[in-house]
Amino acid sequence: MNFLAIDLGTSAVKALVVDERQHVLATSTVPLSTSRLHPHWSEQDPEDWWTAVCSAIDQLRAAAGKNWQAIAAIGLSGQMHGAVLLGGDDLPVRPAILWNDGRAHAEAALLLERIPGIGEISGVPPTASFTAPKLLWLQRHEPDTWRKTRRIVLPKDYIRLKITGICATDMCDAAGSLLFDSGNRIWSKTIMAACNTSPEMLPRAMEGAAVSGNLRADIASAWGLPQTGIPVAAGAGDAAAGAIGIGAINDGDAFISLGTSSQYFITRNAYAPAPASMLHTFCHGLPERWFQMAALLNGASCLAWIASVMGAADDIEGLLQTSADHYTAPSALLFLPYLVGERTPLNDPHSKGALYGLTPGATRSDIVQAVLEGVAFSLGHCQQVLADAGTTPKELAVIGGGSRSLYWMRILANVLGRPLTLYEGGEVGPAFGAARLARLAVTGESITAVCTPPPVKTRIEADPALVEQYRERLSSFRKLYTLLAPVFQPSTLTG
Ligand code: XUL
Repeated sequence: MNFLAIDLGTSAVKALVVDERQHVLATSTVPLSTSRLHPHWSEQDPEDWWTAVCSAIDQLRAAAGKNWQAIAAIGLSGQMHGAVLLGGDDLPVRPAILWNDGRAHAEAALLLERIPGIGEISGVPPTASFTAPKLLWLQRHEPDTWRKTRRIVLPKDYIRLKITGICATDMCDAAGSLLFDSGNRIWSKTIMAACNTSPEMLPRAMEGAAVSGNLRADIASAWGLPQTGIPVAAGAGDAAAGAIGIGAINDGDAFISLGTSSQYFITRNAYAPAPASMLHTFCHGLPERWFQMAALLNGASCLAWIASVMGAADDIEGLLQTSADHYTAPSALLFLPYLVGERTPLNDPHSKGALYGLTPGATRSDIVQAVLEGVAFSLGHCQQVLADAGTTPKELAVIGGGSRSLYWMRILANVLGRPLTLYEGGEVGPAFGAARLARLAVTGESITAVCTPPPVKTRIEADPALVEQYRERLSSFRKLYTLLAPVFQPSTLTG
């Protein structure tokens, strides 16, 4: 018995096949591009997702060989918080508005005004990232689009609709829409009413390992799968799917996910929102579990950006190696990583990237180091916010593409002042968790038997001398943002 997972990321669709021993047998990746038509906008066409999923499946099928025939269940994970608006024919009425789109800032404020206690209900106060304020934006700015809208789904659930014909989502993605009562794991009547939305417009919310539907016969045949009716698990939004993939399912289990965006994630066995801190308290992908998360809009995207600016997009490893060869102490430069604004801890869609402290002596390696440090400082800032909210994890794992760089992991361990555990396959991230949910959906095994931590690949220790130096640099980093925050506002320099 093998399991197929499809992770609809922001920069790529990733698909993989996992066997019963939980070994990854084959993977495929198909890149996605994002359109940024106006400042703060970030959109993707759901039909491009579908095309990318189909080519990821073609590649995966070729890579999996005979293992392809034994697919027993499918799991989905994906980027959270998007608004995918579908007409009566279940086709998109406009491009999807993504999690890193900041246009609905005023509508987020309006929603908070309408429901001052929304953060207690949904798990976090509204920001432009979430689906709910985007719906209000559409009602105000694109009334025709809104009139045509019959259903609102989360990104990965568009793929589910295509492959099963069923409109469903999981508890984590539902929570991330901000239309959800996260403590009770049901759509919130109060928030739906404030967003002029009804339950008929929303997918059915299910636990991650529940069977949401079955693979349609025509899709099974197009994908070369012999069986009919393969179960498709509800799956999970990428934050929870990443957690399930590394077995972060017990109270206090903590990790950082360093993908395009980044998260500092802690599993909780009770719902205890802390809205004032901008921490997200959402439903986990497994029953009776929640998580507390600092959700940063910027992460490995900053490395991709600097590599492309430096003409090294095809040799990121080389770029990192040269900088690593010079690494002895914190950089004299400071980089604010807020390329697309920032959610936790700033809740500031207008914040921008900034490189401070340049002198004639600044080198390419210094700049690369400063960029890596900037992302680490931003996570360090979140660690302080978590500590203020009463959460201080001692053990921390790191997953996601950024964890491939041991150099970056050393910097991160030194900034956070904690050892970091890297797991085998940790860079695969959410797709592996989705495969586990697929397995649970059909085998009836216990959650604890399946969702175990993978073998440890390596442990990165913090260097006490550097930890001390970085503590000071982190306060300079925070001061730099505080000084620049007024300049970032639209009425000043940035227009
Ligand atoms: C989580 C978040 C991102 C997106 C894209 O809150 O915004 O992780 O899910 O991956």
